[in-house]
Amino acid sequence: MDGGQRNTNKSETKDVEGSTSIVFSLKDNFNGLGNALKIFQKHKVDIQHIESRSSKTGTGDNEFFVSCDSQNGVLREAIDELRTITKTLSIQESQPWFPKRIEELDRFANKVLSAGAELQADHPGFSDDVYKARRKEIAQIAINYRHGQEIPRVQYTEVEIDTWRTVFRELTKLYPTNACREFNRSFPLLIDTCGYREDNIPQLEDISKFLKNRTGFRLRPVAGLLSARDFLAGLAFRVFHATQYIRHPSRPMYTPEPDVCHELMGHVPLFADPAFAQFSQELGLASLGAPDEYIQKLSTCYWFTVEFGLCRQEGKVKAYGAGLLSSFGELEYCLTETPELRPFEPFKTAEQKYPITEFQPVYYVAESFETSQAQMRAFAAKIPRPFTVHYNAYTESVEVITEKDQVISLLRAIKGDLDLAEQALKMIQ
Ligand SMILES: [Fe+2]
Repeated sequence: MDGGQRNTNKSETKDVEGSTSIVFSLKDNFNGLGNALKIFQKHKVDIQHIESRSSKTGTGDNEFFVSCDSQNGVLREAIDELRTITKTLSIQESQPWFPKRIEELDRFANKVLSAGAELQADHPGFSDDVYKARRKEIAQIAINYRHGQEIPRVQYTEVEIDTWRTVFRELTKLYPTNACREFNRSFPLLIDTCGYREDNIPQLEDISKFLKNRTGFRLRPVAGLLSARDFLAGLAFRVFHATQYIRHPSRPMYTPEPDVCHELMGHVPLFADPAFAQFSQELGLASLGAPDEYIQKLSTCYWFTVEFGLCRQEGKVKAYGAGLLSSFGELEYCLTETPELRPFEPFKTAEQKYPITEFQPVYYVAESFETSQAQMRAFAAKIPRPFTVHYNAYTESVEVITEKDQVISLLRAIKGDLDLAEQALKMIQ
């Protein structure tokens, strides 16, 4: 198989960053807060947020809610000392850190699981030092990249273009019959505007601009595999992390890791479709601050949709997953009688085990991207987290909704859109 799909069940790098919330009421309401703050300062605890509110215990006391960085300082010791001056004190489960602003994705640039020289033994380039050096050189672009910059262009060599040519030629034979409608609608646009040709490896910067105009998605170069949590967080901002290096020339139809062929042939055309873009962002938003076990479930849903998804169109089954659309062998196999097809249903799909080095024995079939999106939203609502997130496209940031005022302003925005739609409908009628 072409194993270029994003391998989301690689071992997770545990995200140790996060915040701990402490809620306490004080024995001495007059001097207590000052003393509490001195304790945090003494133990070098970094306070991210503090607020005072009426105690929910109904005693009429004020209580303080403090959110602090659990990495900095000796939080445990600070809490022990705090207990000496507090009447009540509770610690809330630590929330995994997640980016709130698009530029915070820069923090993932160096957090890849492999970035160059250290290839696995099953990689066709394992003992090719020239290939490894070149892969590392291209990966360095991603390590240096920061949000807002143009993505540097890679001058691909003749050998690299030959590899691309083989992949491009073979895959484009199957697209008209085996790829979904949305893919076949976008592909000609990529040929026209982004240089998709046999003799040219398109540049991430050109594609990113194209996608931004179509659906607001953009590409960001990545030096290797990100953890599932970080990768999914990118999707919440409509950012897709794409590798820029290419597979080893000895086996143009195989790669055990994502490469530029997998990203550009498999993923990019679907990100140009509004409903698919919305579905992908939904997966990303669901992951923010989710517990580890839910990141695993979301990764599995990602695997069976964005990577290996099938859909039903005009009574026929078609491929929309990038792992299929970038693999000549599996793109044929997935539509044969051999694999088992099941309807996509996130609560069940999320539990399905899957192989990563051979063709999938089971595929999940989506009715439509709109239906999948609604299903993912219902799944996300069951993820245990004490807040809801909303993406603000104007500020390119994620708003964590915990207060009534935030809900009211969100409802106002929705009402504005509804009024506009009503007005437009009247004019059309
Ligand atoms: Fe992928």
